[in-house]
Amino acid sequence: MKKRTALLTSALVAALLSAPAAAQLSVEKQIEFRKAAYQFMSWNMGKIKEQAIDQAVPFNADQMRAAATAIAAAANSGMGALYSPDSAMDMADNTRLKPEFFEQPEKAREVGMNFAREANKLQQVAASGDQAALASQFGAVGQACKACHDDFRGD
Ligand code: HEC
Repeated sequence: MKKRTALLTSALVAALLSAPAAAQLSVEKQIEFRKAAYQFMSWNMGKIKEQAIDQAVPFNADQMRAAATAIAAAANSGMGALYSPDSAMDMADNTRLKPEFFEQPEKAREVGMNFAREANKLQQVAASGDQAALASQFGAVGQACKACHDDFRGD
């Protein structure tokens, strides 16, 4: 508990020191918005899977570009603001965020940055209209989603 308090304090200090931040959302809103963002990404990942992987739907480069752009936009939207230390499973309801996310900040940063990098690359690849390259990058993004879930999302 002492450790969490220290983390909370340093998060507060960091928040105070950082450039004009958006107003701090309530824990309930953070949880609501981050879940919505992941659902939105999941919907767009599903579209790419249908066309580039399963080929259940004819490939439409414009739709693929739109889906990849949506995922990259969510990834680049500053979702860190939706992760305050008191929004994890041990302190909040209706969430599966593990407290490990704050206990292993280096690891959390690494999976987050890796995800953003792969999402940006997805957007670039989708813009090229190359179906095989998109299928391959879809796999890389899926791995990046999973890496975070494996470490930081509870059952
Ligand atoms: C930085 C870590 C991280 C990354 C990257 C990540 N997720 Fe998640 N995801 C989470 C966490 C944590 C939760 C649980 C959120 C909660 O319950 O508050 C979650 C929840 C979800 C949910 C369930 C949302 C709900 O309504 O409960 C879906 C679906 C999901 N993620 C899909 C994805 C997809 C698809 C990707 C990649 C495109 C992705 N996630 C990338 C951490 C991550």
